[in-house]
Amino acid sequence: MTDGDPIPAAAPVVRPLVWTGAGVRLLDQTRLPDEVVYLEVTDVDEVIDAIRRLAVRGAPALGALGAFGVALVARRASRDGWPADRIAGAIERIRTARPTAVALALGVEEASHRLDAGVDAVVAAASELLARDERRNDEIARLGADWVERRLGRRPLRVVTHCNTGSLAAAGVGTALGIIRELHRRGRVETVYVDETRPLLQGSRLTAWELAVAGVPHRVQVDGAAAGTILRGEIDLAVVGADRIAANGDVANKVGTVGVALACAYAGVPFVVAASADTVDPATPDGAAIPIERRGGEEVLAFQGRRVAPAASPAHNPAFDVTPAGLVTALVTEVGVTEPAAPDAAKPAPG
Ligand code: MRU
Repeated sequence: MTDGDPIPAAAPVVRPLVWTGAGVRLLDQTRLPDEVVYLEVTDVDEVIDAIRRLAVRGAPALGALGAFGVALVARRASRDGWPADRIAGAIERIRTARPTAVALALGVEEASHRLDAGVDAVVAAASELLARDERRNDEIARLGADWVERRLGRRPLRVVTHCNTGSLAAAGVGTALGIIRELHRRGRVETVYVDETRPLLQGSRLTAWELAVAGVPHRVQVDGAAAGTILRGEIDLAVVGADRIAANGDVANKVGTVGVALACAYAGVPFVVAASADTVDPATPDGAAIPIERRGGEEVLAFQGRRVAPAASPAHNPAFDVTPAGLVTALVTEVGVTEPAAPDAAKPAPG
């Protein structure tokens, strides 16, 4: 296959997690791309550990794991006769294991509504959530690729993306990466610039791996290169995902995203955000109200387990940043495309 050849529609989609009956089988994303290692998690502490370590990450996948986590709580509670407050406490620990992606809380809440109907009903709710996300991914990919073709024409594009928004992060083809794969299937991708995504390298480890498996031409650049690449005229389009979108359209996504958005605005390059409609959180009025996860300093101060910063230097490690709505050229959800940066733009409809 040469650069720009369309891939078959059925290029592999990786499943980040499946329900086995005994528990949840997770693809441990901390080990990729070197090793493909699966973990079977069967209790609440293991679910929380997998979420916090980013063995499973990406907003939609977190939602699905949160929902199956509730099923594990329900099973344990019925076996060991847990009282209501113990059940509620375990569920709350899962819901708050990571604060920024609203999908985690939504997945936990959706599954919790079926608790009274028993364990099988909770598992069914979690499975429905997964199937629904897969359908949404397909719709986002189609609508996003249609919008891009209308805006930029039917030509091969140089696309930049940040973090990982593909099948590792969701139930199907993913969100932003789903659009990129669909554009590639239509012959509209010259190459994808993959931001490496410091400090945990979701771009170079995960997105590059998915694109390589799918046969999509790409190259990995350090996050600090993105603005320069855009300003040099080497990028036609940016497509990223979202963890939470405030009611006014401000977008929280992996740290580094806002720099890409600013450079795109300066250079006149379309900056596209892709997410399921329920990522728009009506309870969060604007970006300042979005809880931003702060992670441990060792992720920034050490490299491959070895400290590289001076022992006396502390870290600043926000895992996400907020892109103001006015920098978002298009917001693609499964229900349609809005253009928040357009002068007469309406606010996105809450999911
Ligand atoms: O810390 P992560 O890897 O969970 O961050 C993931 C992102 O920021 C993604 O862009 C977002 O969750 C969308 S995934 C479809």
